[in-house]
Amino acid sequence: MAPVIRNLVMLSSLLASAGWTSAQTTPLPQQQGLHQLFVAAGKLFFGTAIETNNFNDTAYLAIANNRQEFGMYVPENSQKWEEIQPAPATFDFAAPDAVLARARQNGQMFRCHTLTWHSQLPAFVANGTWTRDTLAAVIVAHITNVMTHYRGLCYAWDVVNEALNDNGTFRDSVFFRTLGTDFIPLSFAAASRADPAARLYYNDFNLETSPPKAAAAVRIVQLVQALNIPIHGLGFQAHFRVGLTPNVTSLVATQNLFTSLGLEVSFSELDIAHLSLPPNASSIARQSQDYVTVVQACLAVPKCVGITLWQFTDKYSWIPSTFPGLGDACLYTADFEKKPAYEAVRRYLEGDDDESRAECDGHDDAAGGYYRVGAGAVCDEYAGEGKY
Ligand SMILES: *[C@@H]1O[C@H](CO)[C@@H](O)[C@H](O)[C@H]1NC(C)=O
Ligand SMILES: *[C@@H]1O[C@H](CO)[C@@H](O)[C@H](O)[C@H]1NC(C)=O
Ligand SMILES: *[C@@H]1O[C@H](CO)[C@@H](O)[C@H](O)[C@H]1NC(C)=O
Ligand SMILES: *[C@@H]1O[C@H](CO)[C@@H](O)[C@H](O)[C@H]1NC(C)=O
Ligand SMILES: *[C@@H]1O[C@H](CO)[C@@H](O)[C@H](O)[C@H]1NC(C)=O
Repeated sequence: MAPVIRNLVMLSSLLASAGWTSAQTTPLPQQQGLHQLFVAAGKLFFGTAIETNNFNDTAYLAIANNRQEFGMYVPENSQKWEEIQPAPATFDFAAPDAVLARARQNGQMFRCHTLTWHSQLPAFVANGTWTRDTLAAVIVAHITNVMTHYRGLCYAWDVVNEALNDNGTFRDSVFFRTLGTDFIPLSFAAASRADPAARLYYNDFNLETSPPKAAAAVRIVQLVQALNIPIHGLGFQAHFRVGLTPNVTSLVATQNLFTSLGLEVSFSELDIAHLSLPPNASSIARQSQDYVTVVQACLAVPKCVGITLWQFTDKYSWIPSTFPGLGDACLYTADFEKKPAYEAVRRYLEGDDDESRAECDGHDDAAGGYYRVGAGAVCDEYAGEGKY
C-alpha cells in the first residue's frame, strides 16, 4: 500500500475511534465519469473529439474539461490535411496545438487524426499532376512535418484513413490512382520514422458491418506487416445507426480479426444516429442499448484500448449536416442534458445495476462479469508513462 494511502487509512481509523463516523467525514459519493469508470474496468480511455471552435462555449467546456468524463481528446478536423497543410510547405499547427494544450492542462491523453486520407485534401494534392515519385515525396513530407511537430505527444496517429470501399475494393483516390496500394506501407514507414513512440493506426468505417471490407482491412494490415513496417492499431469508426448497431458477438469477432494479427483496437469515432427525428420512446431505449453494446464489445476484448466519441453533444455533431434527416446521435443533448444512453452506459460500467443489465440481456450479453476479466493488461503496459 502506498504510504499516502496507508496514512489516510490510519487517519480515518483515528477519526473513527475519536467518534467521527464516516457519515460525518466523507462527502456524499460523487457520480463517477465515463472515463473514470472505463479506466476502472481496465481500459485506457473514454474520450471525445473536440475542436477549437467549441472553446468559447463555457457549458460545453465544463463537461469536456472534466477528465473524469473524458480522458482523451482528438482534434475533430484541424489535423486533417487541408487544414494543417493547406499549401505546399505551408503548415498551420495553431488549432491542433490549442487542443493539445487544453488536453495537457486537463491531464488528458491526445489522439491524432489523420495523415493519408482521400477527403478534406487541399487542392494542390487532390488536383495535382503526379508521378509515383512526386506524390510519394509529398506524402512523406506531409507525414514527416506533421508528426515531427507532435513527436512524443500523440498516443496514436490515424496514419491511413478510409482506403477501402464498403465492398472491400480499394477506394478511388489520388493516392491509389497514382501509387496503387504502395501509398499504405509508404505512409506507415514515414510515420514510424517520424515518431517511433506513437501507435500507428489504420482507421475506417463500416468494417463492423461489411465482412468483405473487414477482410480487405486484414489484407492491408498483412501487407504492411509483410514489409516489416510497424502498424499497431485498428480504429473502428463506429458511426452507427440506432437499431442497426452490430451485436456484441459480431463486434467482438470483428475486433479479433485484428487482435489476432497482434494489433490493438479501439472504437475511434463513436456516434449512434437516430434514423428519424424526433426519436420515439422505443428508439431512445434502443439507442441506450446500442451504446451499451459498443461498451460491452470493447470490454470483451482485452486489446480494445478505448472508445472515442465523435463529439459528446448533439450541438456539435457532424451527423445532421452530412446525413440530413438523421441525428441526435450523441450521449448529451444539444442543451448538455445527459441522455438515457449516457445513463445506461454509466450504469453498465458501474456494473451492479439490474436495470442496465436487463437492457443488455436479451440483446447479446454473454455474461456481464465476463467482460471485466483480464481487462487490466492493456493498462499495465502504459502505467507510469504519463507522457500523453
Ligand atoms: C463561438 O464562436 C462562434 C464563432 O466563432 C459563434 O458562432 C458561436 O456562437 C460562439 N458560441 C458561443 C457559445 O459564444
Ligand atoms: C479539384 O478540381 C475539381 C474540378 O475543378 C473541383 O471540383 C474540386 O473541388 C477540386 N478539389 C479540391 C480539393 O479543391
Ligand atoms: C465496389 O464499390 C465501388 C464503390 O462503390 C464500385 O465503384 C465498384 O464497382 C464495386 N466493385 C465491385 C466488384 O462490386
Ligand atoms: C449477431 O449478429 C450476427 C451478424 O449479424 C448474427 O449472425 C447473429 O445471429 C447475431 N447474434 C445474436 C445472438 O443475435
Ligand atoms: C419508433 O421509431 C422507429 C424509427 O423511426 C420506428 O421504426 C418505429 O416503428 C417507431 N415505433 C413506434 C412505437 O412508433
